[in-house]
Order: sequence, then C-alpha cells, then structure tokens
Amino acid sequence: MTERELIQKIKELKEERQAVILAHNYQQDAVQDVADFIGDSLELSRKAAASKAKVIVFAGVHFMAESAAILSPDKIVLLPDKLAGCPLADSIDVEGLRRAKERWPEAAVVCYVNSAAAVKAESDVCCTSANAVQVVNSLPQKQVLFVPDRNLANYVSRFTSKEIIPWDGCCVTHQRVTLADLEAAREAHPGAPVLVHPECRPEVVAAADFVGSTGAILRYAREARAEELLIGTEMGILYRLKKENPSKRFYLLTPGLVCPNMKLTTLEKIVKSLERLEPVITVPEETRRRAICALERMLAVA
Ligand code: 13P
Repeated sequence: MTERELIQKIKELKEERQAVILAHNYQQDAVQDVADFIGDSLELSRKAAASKAKVIVFAGVHFMAESAAILSPDKIVLLPDKLAGCPLADSIDVEGLRRAKERWPEAAVVCYVNSAAAVKAESDVCCTSANAVQVVNSLPQKQVLFVPDRNLANYVSRFTSKEIIPWDGCCVTHQRVTLADLEAAREAHPGAPVLVHPECRPEVVAAADFVGSTGAILRYAREARAEELLIGTEMGILYRLKKENPSKRFYLLTPGLVCPNMKLTTLEKIVKSLERLEPVITVPEETRRRAICALERMLAVA
C-alpha cells in the first residue's frame, strides 16, 4: 500500500473500531499526522483517561499504553509494536523497589511514569517530567525515594527542600547529550536559547536556558521571540516544532538523537493493529487496582 492508501485505511478502520490514536511527541512524522492527539506523557495520560473511544491505539512505548490500560480498563488499548519498550522503565523491578523501600522506610515513593505497572503499584504516587516538582512538593514526607530516573531526580532536588533519594537509572538517549555538545551548539548559534528535557545529564540541565517536558518545550518555542532555538531532546519533537513555528529554526544539541523504541510504530503496524485488534496491552486486575492509585494521585496534583 502507498502512504496515501495506508492513511485512508487507518481513517476507515478508526471509524469502524471507534478508535482514537494517541501519539507521543517523539513519534515518526507520518504517525503524528494520523493521530487524533499528539502530546507529552502527562497530556496523553489525561487524554486516555477522558477518552470516550472503545479502542485506544497508543503510538508510543509500552509504559504509556500500560498507563492508558490502567486508567481505562473498559477500553481496548493497542500498542502497534509490542516490542516498543523503554530501557529506563526496565531499569527497576518490583523486587529492587521493595529492597529500597525497606532501606528507606520513612520515604515516600515517587515513580516516574516511565515505569512498569507493577512498579507503579508499589509506589505512592506517579509523576511525569511535566509535574515532577509539584508532585514531590505535594507530599507530607520529608524524604522521597525517586525512581527510576536519576537525572529527573536531580532536577527535582533543585526545587525542593526534601531529601531526594534517586534510583540509578537514566534514559540512554538523553544521556547522549553532553555539555560539550551544548557549548558547541551555543558557539555555532550565539544568543539562541537552549531548551532541554530534564532527563538530560545534570550539567546539561544546569547550563540550559529552559528545562521542561516535551509539551513544555513546545509551548516555550511557540512563545519565544528568538528565531533560532537549540533543542536537547529526542529528535521526533522537531516535526511539531517546525510545523508550529515555520519562521523559526531549530537545531538539535546532539545530532541523530533518536529513541529507537519510539520509531517502531509505523502506519503499516497501525493498520494491522486496528484490523486484528492486537497487540492488546492489559494489566492484571490486582496490579491495576494499586497502580491506578499512584496515577490518580498524580492527576489530582497537576
Ligand atoms: P515527556 O513527559 O516530556 O513526554 O517525556 C517522555 C519521555 O519518555 C521522555 O523520554
């Protein structure tokens, strides 16, 4: 099938299945174009919770589809490529988290949404990169076990008086952005603001002009007066940045900054997934019941 035929087929199948396509800002351009909604992790989980559709096609990675399945148990949640995972989410398991909880029994457990349902079920509250600071500051405890992203934990620690105990995980893609990359980009584009994701290394975050989720980076870019902006996050975001700001120029701090998992979703796989209604992402009910508390607590904060 040609791209046009695939797009037409997706349109028909969406109607037939009463489906909605939710796509993350890192998805391939063509996938973003067929989505009903494109957003960051927080925006997507809100959409998933509020959606009236019978079927949600999640163009993203496994933990995002899992969050949708936790929040909307009555819907069929499809992940077009079930191998679309997240190494950061895989860096922590339930046993590891339980051991950490035993070591710091007084600490509240905040888990980044980039985590498995079973880890969310063991946590007090979830957060995304868009609301991590507010979530941490909303807690009564003085000590917070923050899992699994150490860089986001470090970023949060700059905006709270609480003791943050980080898990030692990180996003391999954001970790590739170095301070030398940032400095070289600044030298090549003097005066251009540097916008980075909080999953970047602490020294990169400290040197940036703006730090935020993909949604916040998009908002900052829309409102900025600058004509050139330097971006430190996965390159899929460039498609929306350029589309929404045709008169501005965007440069990645690190060339080829790609999350391979985010690129696994294709138009062909979306068609197949809607035709066969698979792969379906489900969460065992006992885990789901506990994990939804952490997600709903987060959604109530910010
Ligand atoms: P956002 O919350 O900014 O969408 O980030 C998602 C993510 O997984 C970054 O690696």
